[in-house]
Amino acid sequence: MLSVSNLKVCYGQSEVISDLTFSVPKNETLAIMGRNGMGKTTLFKSLIGILPSSEGVIQIDGVDISTLESYQRVENGIAYVPQGRMIFPDLTVKENIETGLEVSKLKEIPDDIYALFPVLREMRNRKGGNLSGGQQQQLAIARALVTNPKVLLLDEPTEGIQPSIIKDIANILNEIKQLRDITIIVSEQVLSFTMEIADRIIVIDKGKFIHENMRNQVDSHQIKKYLSV
Ligand SMILES: Nc1ncnc2c1ncn2[C@@H]1O[C@H](COP(=O)(O)OP(=O)(O)OP(=O)(O)O)[C@@H](O)[C@H]1O
Ligand SMILES: [Mg+2]
Repeated sequence: MLSVSNLKVCYGQSEVISDLTFSVPKNETLAIMGRNGMGKTTLFKSLIGILPSSEGVIQIDGVDISTLESYQRVENGIAYVPQGRMIFPDLTVKENIETGLEVSKLKEIPDDIYALFPVLREMRNRKGGNLSGGQQQQLAIARALVTNPKVLLLDEPTEGIQPSIIKDIANILNEIKQLRDITIIVSEQVLSFTMEIADRIIVIDKGKFIHENMRNQVDSHQIKKYLSV
């Protein structure tokens, strides 16, 4: 569903993503794990088109999106939940979700969105900025989902969220995977979370993949070693 080949991303002279090649099939959840500063956000920003890549090809469902603008990439089926959630604090919950609707050509927020996130229905007229961190994370996921993506990217969805809410987010992502034909890619540092949701785990280190395993073959001690400073 997503296929990336020889991707290279730089900030000026400094190469942050080096020659990455990987693909993620339909209905797989992939976790890309790595310490701070290893290139997770840079990778996601280049996939969604916020950052230009210097080399490489990105394909969604066989369509080359490498040279498209972000909004065109979204139209082609990729959606992004940024690190820190980046919801619009002064818009209501409903208005925040509606910002995603244009691409899907729907007029109204579909019921299945509120079924996945009952708390957002309850709070639909509240300002986004007044929600808790966990609720804002749900809002950011809802906003991405209404574009009806084939590939959903989530950049560190558990950051700054308490353990009980982390469990809720894991349940929601597993439910989304059950309900839709969707490929999910999360970047993370929390192994207990990725073990709940991922089919496959990859470790990124200084812009390169250094380890990869299916979840049922994961050696947690080894991954924890990669993740500790
Ligand atoms: N705008 C920028 N200009 C120059 N260098 C940058 C810029 N943004 C990030 N970097 C550098 O690129 C590297 C990768 O950063 P990135 O934000 O992708 O890491 P990350 O894995 O997402 O980290 P974190 O877990 O802290 O979010 C870091 O060394 C960082 O300092
Ligand atoms: Mg990051």
